[in-house]
Amino acid sequence: MLEKIKSEASAAIEVAADLKALDDIRVKYLGKKGEITAVLRGMGALSAEERPIVGALANTVREEIEALITGKNEALAAKAMEEKMASEKIDVTISSKRAVQGKLHPLSQVLSEIKDIFIGMGFSIADGPDVELDYYNFEALNIPKNHPARDTQDTFYINDNVVLRTQTSPVQVRVMEKQKPPIRVIAPGRVYRSDAVDATHSPLFHQIEGLVVDKGITMGDLKGTLETFVKALYGEDAKVRFRPHHFPFTEPSAEVDVSCFVCGGEGCRVCKGEGWIEILGAGMVHPKVLSGCGIDPEEYSGFAFGLGLERVAMRRYDIDDLRLFFENDLKFLKQF
Ligand code: PHE
Repeated sequence: MLEKIKSEASAAIEVAADLKALDDIRVKYLGKKGEITAVLRGMGALSAEERPIVGALANTVREEIEALITGKNEALAAKAMEEKMASEKIDVTISSKRAVQGKLHPLSQVLSEIKDIFIGMGFSIADGPDVELDYYNFEALNIPKNHPARDTQDTFYINDNVVLRTQTSPVQVRVMEKQKPPIRVIAPGRVYRSDAVDATHSPLFHQIEGLVVDKGITMGDLKGTLETFVKALYGEDAKVRFRPHHFPFTEPSAEVDVSCFVCGGEGCRVCKGEGWIEILGAGMVHPKVLSGCGIDPEEYSGFAFGLGLERVAMRRYDIDDLRLFFENDLKFLKQF
Protein backbone atom coordinates (compact mmCIF):
# COMPACT_ATOMS: atom_id res chain seq x y z
CA MET A 1 0.00 0.00 0.00
CA LEU A 2 2.67 2.47 1.06
CA GLU A 3 4.90 1.33 -1.79
CA LYS A 4 2.07 2.02 -4.23
CA ILE A 5 1.53 5.50 -2.76
CA LYS A 6 5.24 6.17 -3.07
CA SER A 7 5.50 5.14 -6.70
CA GLU A 8 2.34 7.04 -7.70
CA ALA A 9 3.51 10.14 -5.89
CA SER A 10 6.97 10.10 -7.41
CA ALA A 11 5.52 9.59 -10.90
CA ALA A 12 3.19 12.56 -10.35
CA ILE A 13 5.99 14.74 -9.03
CA GLU A 14 8.15 13.82 -12.00
CA VAL A 15 5.60 15.17 -14.50
CA ALA A 16 4.35 18.19 -12.46
CA ALA A 17 4.51 21.09 -14.91
CA ASP A 18 4.44 24.00 -12.48
CA LEU A 19 4.49 25.03 -8.84
CA LYS A 20 0.72 24.91 -8.57
CA ALA A 21 0.56 21.31 -9.76
CA LEU A 22 3.34 20.39 -7.35
CA ASP A 23 1.48 21.92 -4.43
CA ASP A 24 -1.65 19.95 -5.33
CA ILE A 25 0.44 16.77 -5.15
CA ARG A 26 1.77 17.75 -1.75
CA VAL A 27 -1.75 18.23 -0.43
CA LYS A 28 -2.95 15.01 -2.00
CA TYR A 29 -0.28 12.83 -0.35
CA LEU A 30 1.02 14.71 2.69
CA GLY A 31 -1.87 16.99 3.60
CA LYS A 32 -4.16 16.61 6.62
CA LYS A 33 -6.58 14.65 4.48
CA GLY A 34 -3.75 13.17 2.41
CA GLU A 35 -3.07 9.51 1.73
CA ILE A 36 -0.08 9.09 4.06
CA THR A 37 -2.02 10.69 6.88
CA ALA A 38 -4.87 8.29 6.21
CA VAL A 39 -2.48 5.36 6.52
CA LEU A 40 -1.12 6.65 9.83
CA ARG A 41 -4.62 7.19 11.11
CA GLY A 42 -5.60 3.67 10.15
CA MET A 43 -2.82 2.17 12.23
CA GLY A 44 -5.18 1.61 15.20
CA ALA A 45 -6.52 -1.40 13.35
CA LEU A 46 -3.08 -3.03 13.16
CA SER A 47 -1.53 -5.52 15.61
CA ALA A 48 1.10 -4.37 18.16
CA GLU A 49 3.87 -6.02 16.14
CA GLU A 50 2.84 -4.50 12.84
CA ARG A 51 2.30 -0.97 14.10
CA PRO A 52 5.97 0.17 14.55
CA ILE A 53 6.99 -1.39 11.22
CA VAL A 54 4.17 0.25 9.28
CA GLY A 55 4.71 3.53 11.20
CA ALA A 56 8.40 3.58 10.38
CA LEU A 57 7.73 2.74 6.73
CA ALA A 58 5.05 5.47 6.50
CA ASN A 59 7.46 8.04 7.89
CA THR A 60 10.19 7.00 5.48
CA VAL A 61 7.80 7.22 2.54
CA ARG A 62 6.64 10.64 3.73
CA GLU A 63 10.20 11.90 4.00
CA GLU A 64 11.02 10.54 0.56
CA ILE A 65 8.02 12.25 -0.97
CA GLU A 66 8.88 15.49 0.83
CA ALA A 67 12.42 15.32 -0.53
CA LEU A 68 11.17 14.70 -4.05
CA ILE A 69 8.80 17.65 -3.78
CA THR A 70 11.55 19.95 -2.49
CA GLY A 71 13.84 18.91 -5.33
CA LYS A 72 11.17 19.38 -7.94
CA ASN A 73 10.24 22.70 -6.40
CA GLU A 74 13.78 23.97 -6.86
CA ALA A 75 13.93 22.68 -10.41
CA LEU A 76 10.63 24.36 -11.32
CA ALA A 77 11.68 27.66 -9.70
CA ALA A 78 14.96 27.61 -11.60
CA LYS A 79 13.15 26.88 -14.84
CA ALA A 80 10.67 29.73 -14.22
CA MET A 81 13.54 32.14 -13.57
CA GLU A 82 15.31 31.04 -16.72
CA GLU A 83 12.17 31.65 -18.79
CA LYS A 84 11.71 35.08 -17.22
CA MET A 85 15.29 36.04 -18.01
CA ALA A 86 14.92 34.85 -21.57
CA SER A 87 11.71 36.79 -22.10
CA GLU A 88 13.17 40.00 -20.66
CA LYS A 89 16.46 39.80 -22.47
CA ILE A 90 17.52 43.03 -24.21
CA ASP A 91 20.13 43.30 -26.90
CA VAL A 92 22.29 46.22 -25.87
CA THR A 93 24.24 46.03 -29.12
CA ILE A 94 21.21 46.65 -31.36
CA SER A 95 21.36 50.03 -33.10
CA SER A 96 18.94 52.62 -31.73
CA LYS A 97 16.41 54.73 -33.55
CA ARG A 98 18.32 57.96 -33.92
CA ALA A 99 16.53 61.12 -32.77
CA VAL A 100 16.23 63.63 -35.58
CA GLN A 101 18.25 66.69 -34.70
CA GLY A 102 16.78 69.98 -35.80
CA LYS A 103 18.65 73.20 -36.42
CA LEU A 104 18.09 76.91 -36.71
CA HIS A 105 15.98 78.27 -39.55
CA PRO A 106 18.14 79.99 -42.19
CA LEU A 107 16.62 83.36 -41.22
CA SER A 108 17.60 82.77 -37.59
CA GLN A 109 21.11 81.79 -38.65
CA VAL A 110 21.59 84.99 -40.63
CA LEU A 111 20.00 87.06 -37.87
CA SER A 112 22.35 85.72 -35.22
CA GLU A 113 25.32 86.43 -37.47
CA ILE A 114 24.13 90.02 -37.93
CA LYS A 115 23.49 90.43 -34.20
CA ASP A 116 27.00 89.18 -33.45
CA ILE A 117 28.52 91.76 -35.79
CA PHE A 118 26.67 94.68 -34.18
CA ILE A 119 27.18 93.44 -30.64
CA GLY A 120 30.87 93.34 -31.51
CA MET A 121 30.62 97.05 -32.38
CA GLY A 122 29.09 97.88 -29.00
CA PHE A 123 25.39 97.80 -29.91
CA SER A 124 22.76 96.26 -27.67
CA ILE A 125 19.47 94.64 -28.68
CA ALA A 126 16.18 96.52 -28.33
CA ASP A 127 12.66 95.26 -28.78
CA GLY A 128 9.18 96.60 -29.50
CA PRO A 129 5.68 95.20 -30.05
CA ASP A 130 4.43 93.79 -33.37
CA VAL A 131 0.99 95.25 -32.63
CA GLU A 132 1.90 98.90 -32.49
CA LEU A 133 0.26 102.24 -31.92
CA ASP A 134 -0.26 104.30 -35.07
CA TYR A 135 1.60 107.01 -33.15
CA TYR A 136 4.87 105.06 -32.99
CA ASN A 137 4.64 103.45 -36.40
CA PHE A 138 3.78 106.69 -38.23
CA GLU A 139 3.07 109.92 -36.35
CA ALA A 140 6.21 110.07 -34.22
CA LEU A 141 8.25 109.19 -37.31
CA ASN A 142 7.04 112.34 -39.03
CA ILE A 143 4.41 110.50 -41.08
CA PRO A 144 1.12 112.26 -40.18
CA LYS A 145 -2.30 110.89 -41.17
CA ASN A 146 -2.87 111.33 -44.91
CA HIS A 147 0.86 111.54 -45.61
CA PRO A 148 1.57 109.84 -48.99
CA ALA A 149 4.29 107.69 -47.37
CA ARG A 150 1.44 105.73 -45.76
CA ASP A 151 0.37 104.45 -49.17
CA THR A 152 3.58 102.50 -49.66
CA GLN A 153 3.26 101.02 -46.19
CA ASP A 154 -0.36 100.01 -46.05
CA THR A 155 -0.93 97.59 -43.24
CA PHE A 156 -3.50 95.78 -41.12
CA TYR A 157 -5.46 98.09 -38.84
CA ILE A 158 -6.72 96.77 -35.52
CA ASN A 159 -8.53 100.10 -35.16
CA ASP A 160 -7.79 103.74 -36.06
CA ASN A 161 -4.97 103.94 -33.53
CA VAL A 162 -3.53 100.40 -33.54
CA VAL A 163 -1.75 98.72 -36.46
CA LEU A 164 0.53 95.80 -37.20
CA ARG A 165 3.82 97.65 -37.51
CA THR A 166 5.06 98.15 -41.06
CA GLN A 167 8.68 98.68 -40.07
CA THR A 168 10.96 98.33 -37.06
CA SER A 169 11.50 102.11 -37.00
CA PRO A 170 8.90 102.65 -34.22
CA VAL A 171 11.41 100.96 -31.88
CA GLN A 172 13.67 104.00 -32.48
CA VAL A 173 11.05 106.19 -30.85
CA ARG A 174 10.36 103.78 -28.01
CA VAL A 175 14.07 103.58 -27.21
CA MET A 176 14.62 107.36 -27.38
CA GLU A 177 11.64 108.03 -25.13
CA LYS A 178 13.08 105.78 -22.42
CA GLN A 179 16.82 106.14 -22.79
CA LYS A 180 18.94 109.27 -23.04
CA PRO A 181 22.00 109.36 -25.33
CA PRO A 182 24.45 107.79 -25.87
CA ILE A 183 22.22 105.25 -27.63
CA ARG A 184 23.51 102.38 -29.73
CA VAL A 185 20.92 99.67 -30.45
CA ILE A 186 19.69 97.31 -33.09
CA ALA A 187 16.08 96.12 -33.07
CA PRO A 188 15.29 93.00 -35.08
CA GLY A 189 11.71 91.85 -35.52
CA ARG A 190 8.68 91.00 -37.62
CA VAL A 191 6.95 93.62 -39.72
CA TYR A 192 3.71 93.50 -41.69
CA ARG A 193 2.33 95.03 -44.87
CA SER A 194 -0.84 94.26 -46.77
CA ASP A 195 1.04 92.90 -49.77
CA ALA A 196 -0.08 89.89 -51.79
CA VAL A 197 2.27 86.92 -51.56
CA ASP A 198 4.67 86.37 -54.47
CA ALA A 199 8.32 85.45 -54.94
CA THR A 200 9.51 88.78 -53.50
CA HIS A 201 6.58 89.90 -51.31
CA SER A 202 5.11 88.60 -48.10
CA PRO A 203 2.62 90.20 -45.70
CA LEU A 204 5.06 89.26 -42.95
CA PHE A 205 8.80 89.75 -43.14
CA HIS A 206 11.67 90.82 -40.90
CA GLN A 207 13.72 93.97 -40.48
CA ILE A 208 16.65 94.92 -38.35
CA GLU A 209 16.60 98.52 -37.22
CA GLY A 210 19.74 100.32 -36.16
CA LEU A 211 19.94 103.53 -34.13
CA VAL A 212 22.86 105.55 -32.83
CA VAL A 213 22.37 108.88 -31.02
CA ASP A 214 25.09 110.87 -29.32
CA LYS A 215 26.87 114.20 -29.43
CA GLY A 216 28.58 114.87 -32.76
CA ILE A 217 27.29 111.83 -34.73
CA THR A 218 27.67 112.45 -38.47
CA MET A 219 26.93 110.81 -41.80
CA GLY A 220 30.58 109.65 -41.70
CA ASP A 221 29.78 107.54 -38.63
CA LEU A 222 26.82 106.01 -40.49
CA LYS A 223 29.00 105.19 -43.48
CA GLY A 224 31.82 103.77 -41.37
CA THR A 225 29.44 101.63 -39.34
CA LEU A 226 27.71 100.22 -42.40
CA GLU A 227 31.04 99.60 -44.14
CA THR A 228 32.33 97.68 -41.15
CA PHE A 229 29.09 95.70 -41.05
CA VAL A 230 29.09 94.86 -44.74
CA LYS A 231 32.74 93.74 -44.70
CA ALA A 232 32.04 91.49 -41.71
CA LEU A 233 29.04 89.98 -43.47
CA TYR A 234 30.28 89.72 -47.07
CA GLY A 235 34.07 89.87 -46.79
CA GLU A 236 36.80 92.50 -46.82
CA ASP A 237 36.34 93.32 -50.51
CA ALA A 238 32.74 94.45 -50.08
CA LYS A 239 32.06 98.14 -50.75
CA VAL A 240 29.04 100.29 -49.95
CA ARG A 241 27.40 102.96 -52.07
CA PHE A 242 24.94 105.59 -50.85
CA ARG A 243 22.20 106.82 -53.20
CA PRO A 244 20.07 109.83 -52.24
CA HIS A 245 16.57 108.83 -51.15
CA HIS A 246 13.72 110.10 -49.01
CA PHE A 247 12.39 108.82 -45.70
CA PRO A 248 10.16 111.11 -43.63
CA PHE A 249 12.06 110.35 -40.40
CA THR A 250 15.63 110.81 -41.62
CA GLU A 251 17.28 113.82 -43.24
CA PRO A 252 19.35 113.41 -45.30
CA SER A 253 18.28 109.91 -46.32
CA ALA A 254 19.92 107.31 -48.48
CA GLU A 255 19.42 103.90 -49.94
CA VAL A 256 22.53 101.84 -49.44
CA ASP A 257 23.91 99.31 -51.92
CA VAL A 258 26.63 96.74 -51.43
CA SER A 259 28.96 95.73 -54.26
CA CYS A 260 27.74 92.43 -55.68
CA PHE A 261 29.38 89.67 -53.71
CA VAL A 262 28.95 87.20 -56.59
CA CYS A 263 30.67 89.14 -59.39
CA GLY A 264 32.44 91.74 -57.28
CA GLY A 265 30.83 94.59 -59.21
CA GLU A 266 31.23 93.53 -62.84
CA GLY A 267 27.58 92.67 -63.33
CA CYS A 268 25.97 89.24 -63.22
CA ARG A 269 22.65 87.44 -62.87
CA VAL A 270 22.42 88.03 -59.10
CA CYS A 271 22.87 91.83 -59.33
CA LYS A 272 20.98 91.91 -62.63
CA GLY A 273 24.00 93.42 -64.38
CA GLU A 274 24.15 96.37 -61.97
CA GLY A 275 27.24 95.40 -59.99
CA TRP A 276 25.42 96.67 -56.88
CA ILE A 277 22.70 95.25 -54.68
CA GLU A 278 20.42 97.38 -52.52
CA ILE A 279 20.46 96.20 -48.93
CA LEU A 280 19.03 98.89 -46.69
CA GLY A 281 17.56 102.32 -46.08
CA ALA A 282 19.31 104.78 -43.81
CA GLY A 283 19.80 108.41 -42.86
CA MET A 284 20.41 110.98 -40.13
CA VAL A 285 17.61 110.97 -37.55
CA HIS A 286 15.25 113.85 -38.38
CA PRO A 287 15.42 116.71 -35.83
CA LYS A 288 11.63 116.54 -35.46
CA VAL A 289 11.86 112.90 -34.42
CA LEU A 290 14.58 113.67 -31.87
CA SER A 291 12.70 116.57 -30.29
CA GLY A 292 9.46 114.56 -30.30
CA CYS A 293 11.25 112.11 -28.01
CA GLY A 294 12.60 114.84 -25.73
CA ILE A 295 16.11 114.83 -27.16
CA ASP A 296 17.50 118.26 -28.08
CA PRO A 297 18.54 118.19 -31.76
CA GLU A 298 20.87 121.15 -31.10
CA GLU A 299 22.84 119.03 -28.67
CA TYR A 300 22.52 115.56 -30.14
CA SER A 301 22.44 113.96 -33.55
CA GLY A 302 22.05 110.40 -34.72
CA PHE A 303 21.76 107.98 -37.57
CA ALA A 304 19.36 105.15 -38.25
CA PHE A 305 19.11 102.33 -40.74
CA GLY A 306 16.69 99.55 -41.57
CA LEU A 307 17.80 96.28 -43.10
CA GLY A 308 15.59 93.56 -44.62
CA LEU A 309 16.51 90.17 -43.18
CA GLU A 310 14.94 88.06 -45.95
CA ARG A 311 16.84 89.97 -48.60
CA VAL A 312 20.15 89.38 -46.91
CA ALA A 313 19.39 85.68 -46.45
CA MET A 314 18.12 85.26 -50.05
CA ARG A 315 21.33 86.67 -51.41
CA ARG A 316 23.51 84.85 -48.95
CA TYR A 317 22.06 81.46 -49.95
CA ASP A 318 21.07 82.31 -53.54
CA ILE A 319 17.37 81.72 -52.82
CA ASP A 320 15.09 83.15 -55.50
CA ASP A 321 11.70 82.73 -53.83
CA LEU A 322 10.82 84.37 -50.50
CA ARG A 323 7.97 81.92 -49.91
CA LEU A 324 10.43 79.11 -49.25
CA PHE A 325 11.30 80.69 -45.91
CA PHE A 326 7.75 80.42 -44.64
CA GLU A 327 6.58 77.09 -46.07
CA ASN A 328 8.82 75.12 -43.70
CA ASP A 329 9.44 72.29 -46.14
CA LEU A 330 12.14 70.14 -44.54
CA LYS A 331 13.69 69.40 -47.94
CA PHE A 332 14.41 73.12 -48.19
CA LEU A 333 15.34 73.78 -44.57
CA LYS A 334 17.78 70.87 -44.31
CA GLN A 335 20.06 72.53 -46.85
CA PHE A 336 21.24 75.22 -44.47
N1 PHE B 1 11.93 101.81 -42.03
C1 PHE B 1 12.40 102.06 -43.37
C2 PHE B 1 11.67 101.10 -44.32
O1 PHE B 1 11.04 100.18 -43.89
C3 PHE B 1 13.89 101.84 -43.47
C4 PHE B 1 14.67 102.88 -42.71
C5 PHE B 1 15.03 102.64 -41.41
C6 PHE B 1 15.09 104.05 -43.30
C7 PHE B 1 15.76 103.61 -40.70
C8 PHE B 1 15.84 104.98 -42.63
C9 PHE B 1 16.18 104.77 -41.34
O2 PHE B 1 11.71 101.28 -45.51
